[in-house]
Amino acid sequence: NLHPKFVNALPDPNRSPNCFNPVTVGGSAYVLRLREFNSQIGLVNTAGQKLTTVLWGYGTTLQAPTSPGRTFNVRSGRGIQVTYVNELVKSLRPIPHRLPVDSTLMWANPGNLGGQAPVPLVAHRHGGNQKALSDGLPDAWSTPDANLNGTPDYKGRLWSVPYAFDNAQEAGHLWYHDHALGVTRLNVHMGLAGHYFIRDANEDYLVQRAMLPASQFEVPLAIQDRMYDSTGKLYYPAKDPLNPSAPATTHLPEFFGDFILVNGVPWPKHQVEPRAYRLRLLNGSDSRFYRLRFQTATGFLGFHQVGTELGLMDAPVALTELLLAPGERADVVVNFKSAKGQAVALVNDAPTPFPNGTPVDAATAGQIMAFHVVLKFDTAYPDVTLPVFLRPVHGPLPAVNTASASVRKLLLLEGTDAYGRLQTMLGTVNPAAGNPTSPAHGTFFYSDPVTENIRMGSSEVWEIHNTTVDAHPIHLHLVDFRVLSRQPFTGTVVPKPMGANGSTTGGWLTNVALSGPARAAEANEAGRKDTVIAYPGEVTRILATFPRAGEYVWHCHILSHEDHEMMRRFVVA
Ligand code: C2O
Ligand code: CU
Repeated sequence: NLHPKFVNALPDPNRSPNCFNPVTVGGSAYVLRLREFNSQIGLVNTAGQKLTTVLWGYGTTLQAPTSPGRTFNVRSGRGIQVTYVNELVKSLRPIPHRLPVDSTLMWANPGNLGGQAPVPLVAHRHGGNQKALSDGLPDAWSTPDANLNGTPDYKGRLWSVPYAFDNAQEAGHLWYHDHALGVTRLNVHMGLAGHYFIRDANEDYLVQRAMLPASQFEVPLAIQDRMYDSTGKLYYPAKDPLNPSAPATTHLPEFFGDFILVNGVPWPKHQVEPRAYRLRLLNGSDSRFYRLRFQTATGFLGFHQVGTELGLMDAPVALTELLLAPGERADVVVNFKSAKGQAVALVNDAPTPFPNGTPVDAATAGQIMAFHVVLKFDTAYPDVTLPVFLRPVHGPLPAVNTASASVRKLLLLEGTDAYGRLQTMLGTVNPAAGNPTSPAHGTFFYSDPVTENIRMGSSEVWEIHNTTVDAHPIHLHLVDFRVLSRQPFTGTVVPKPMGANGSTTGGWLTNVALSGPARAAEANEAGRKDTVIAYPGEVTRILATFPRAGEYVWHCHILSHEDHEMMRRFVVA
């Protein structure tokens, strides 16, 4: 893949017309229309001709759809309403999916037209503390004109239209993306994702005192990998010649693209001044982890992480590299002063799958984008100096206190589904139940009962035991959580026979023993998180308080895994 790099300008999703501003647009009610559109994102063929790509994006009544969708910038504590309308229609007919759908997965199959139409869609606000009926759960989908809808929640209620978001949480970096069961990876691949920022008084305080970059010096960066055919059409692999029992159109255990997009454009360049910039990084990829560094002609620029997904940390953390798993966000400040006149490349060296897979191709997915430090320092804006303490208005983050928390032991495991395919799953570790075939050890999203029943307002430590060979980014809806520690363990997975074709999907963990010292959370995990990396062979401990009643989900944020039911409901009551 020799596609030219660092040619296309980076779109800034925080600047007009790529963003919503509640002051100027739409007041507090937004209607987003999900449509198909043609776009020249900067792809060229070998002759240098511009190619057109068919995308799905979020538009409004008056504005054309975009991908990524328009950025929300809302105030903490000020509620908004959002209606998402599925308009994947052409000449009044629902359009088919543009990517191969594997109908052997448990999927949001609206199915009345045969084939792959109409396409079910549901937008989830990731990182939001919102009512379950406004959450955008995987079976809360609808089709064009809402002719067909997903199944009701556990109390028999259908999803609310519009969604109501009270935004009663700290300033943070949320995002929204499609979440329809079994086709999430395909719908996001087509372009259905966008940023959602919450702003508050603490952030204002820092910005006004030149302690945090703002306006054009704050840049959201959504990093996503893709594949295209030679005509510029999005491509998604769906064949497995090595597995004779796989269906002709099959789900695959992971997706790694050889094109890197930032804000929807392949390998962009961004012209910057020799000063500090605040970068709001989002890994919106299917399966790819990124280990990021800022490379100059002579070495690497150091930088600071100031916030995690859902807020600022107490103090900046100095870093030279940053690991970002699918679904994770990071709030970083990098100063380009020392690279004046130079190009700074944002590069990635994370293996695929992470952490034990094959090395990244340095010429393609090893490159993300370039910052050209060629603009003159505009003295109308002061340079910033990061403060020692980032939460002058909020006060320090609440101390981590597990005293009143109950402990829940959970399991990540691998099995084989009825088509002989690898299936990564979630389950429980519950020696008291003592029976590997008990439904309590079931791992399916649909067919197995809810085991994560949580008391409203309670705090729980989740101990996530990863018995697989890869790292999985585990995401909980509804809550922000704190990362406590990680510790190696040993144990035996007892498979749960499922019957069909001798598959052994599901199981439980027995003989569990800790096998080494615990290590504390990383310095740059010391904030409000909603997605955490669970490494193979380790138990990862997090602490969460559950603030609302209702049905939610927790899942692996590798989209190919959540689409294959590496996802479970939890119910707060
Ligand atoms: Cu990014 Cu269940 O979501
Ligand atoms: Cu996973």
